[in-house]
Amino acid sequence: MFKLPAQGTQEDALFEQLETYRQNDLKWRGGKAFGYVYNAGKKAEMIGKRAFAMYLSENGLDPTAFPSLMRLENEVMALAAGHLGGAESTVGTFTSGGTESIMLADKSAREWAKIHKPHTETPEMILPTTAHAAFHKAAHYLGLKLINVPVNPETMRAVPSAMKAAINDNTVLMVGSSPSYAHGVVDPIEELAGIAKDAGLLFHVDACVGGWLLPFFKRLGADVPAFDFSVPGVTSISMDLHKYAFTPKGASVILYARPELRQHHAFACDEWTGYTIINMAVQSSKSGGPLAAAWAVLNGLGDEGYMELAQSVLDATAAIKEGIAAIDGLDIVSRPDFCMLAFTSSQASVFHIADEMSERGWYIQPQFAFGENHKENIHISISPGNAHLVEPFLQALAESVEAAKALPSGQMAAMLEGQIGAMNPSDLGPEVIEGFMGMLGVQGASLPERMATINEVLNILPPKLKEPMLITFMGQLFRPSKG
Ligand SMILES: Cc1ncc(COP(=O)(O)O)c(C=O)c1O
Repeated sequence: MFKLPAQGTQEDALFEQLETYRQNDLKWRGGKAFGYVYNAGKKAEMIGKRAFAMYLSENGLDPTAFPSLMRLENEVMALAAGHLGGAESTVGTFTSGGTESIMLADKSAREWAKIHKPHTETPEMILPTTAHAAFHKAAHYLGLKLINVPVNPETMRAVPSAMKAAINDNTVLMVGSSPSYAHGVVDPIEELAGIAKDAGLLFHVDACVGGWLLPFFKRLGADVPAFDFSVPGVTSISMDLHKYAFTPKGASVILYARPELRQHHAFACDEWTGYTIINMAVQSSKSGGPLAAAWAVLNGLGDEGYMELAQSVLDATAAIKEGIAAIDGLDIVSRPDFCMLAFTSSQASVFHIADEMSERGWYIQPQFAFGENHKENIHISISPGNAHLVEPFLQALAESVEAAKALPSGQMAAMLEGQIGAMNPSDLGPEVIEGFMGMLGVQGASLPERMATINEVLNILPPKLKEPMLITFMGQLFRPSKG
């Protein structure tokens, strides 16, 4: 077993060790990673780190003990609400990320239903299939029923008539994305929110990725569909700051059109022997670091700073879209509204393309097929930190596509397809899963260098098999170190 050192380790040695631990991490600083880190360069990083460290030890548990944190939160909420067309009545809460913001909006809807739709035993929410998995997680945690409505297979946008047809007596909440993560497209928020309003439902806009930058894109002349509180019927919006507002991780906001809705997401407890809990978010004790860092980055970059960053991302996105369209064998999925997009290939395995890019030092993200209308594809999220590398990126992508075209693909998946088709989740004991993963080259926590074969097999697994399999794999990864 891993043990505490008998005596404390010298500081130099500690930090050296921490540095060596991250040598195999994704290299994002150079600009070759199109995901995971929203890199706006040194200024944002330095401001964020300094403010984070300064408020690291303050505890957001009790605003009366740390009024600085309440002040910071109220100022961040004012900026966020103003940015998203909020009115006097708009209120919000700072959270740790998109998932927590969405969880709270869904809890608010569940509690709202207890008062406004008291006959409803299991409240339902209606989502387009492109809405983030965080809604499925929230439904799972909160005991809500989720109705997943297919999107238009050409545009990847929610279909208002289909969303409307899914409404029933138990529906409490309808959701649209601005934009969806996978394809970077904004749903027809005005139509959807109108439908929800007419039906007396709540309507949530998931603007986790797009909420901050889209208004800047609009001011720069981009065609941005309406998605904020100025749209009648929108009752809540989630917007992450730790994505395209470029603040350190642990920063998102959930905003509501009316204070009553935020009351429903809160939690208080006086039924125990300790201090009375009054939580406006899921977390209880929490570092003041992410909030102070978000406040500092927003104010440190200012309107001008964000306009410049937005322009650089818009330009890079336009050049990348044009470049991808010019590569023989690649097709952009739909028409993205944001600096995120997906592309497919009719001539090569996208999983080989991702591996080839990885061998050349780039990170792009494979996305699996979903249902009949979504084939496997590659997602990229473009940040200001990628903007100076557009030409080399396109060059590497063109080379990777050519290399991938020459590689055989799909044999293992074809071989396993029959077997997999006959399987049920109940067949998937730990030994079966471990044997299966061993066949694919996964040994304990170590993955093969090239992921194409594994990805091709995962690509044909239905969610009911893929989900438990990946949970088992995660269980393999997270085991106490042996020393
Ligand atoms: C549209 C959208 N919603 C929600 C989330 C979840 O955010 P988080 O990872 O911060 O919990 C994401 C994450 O990428 C997202 O893109």
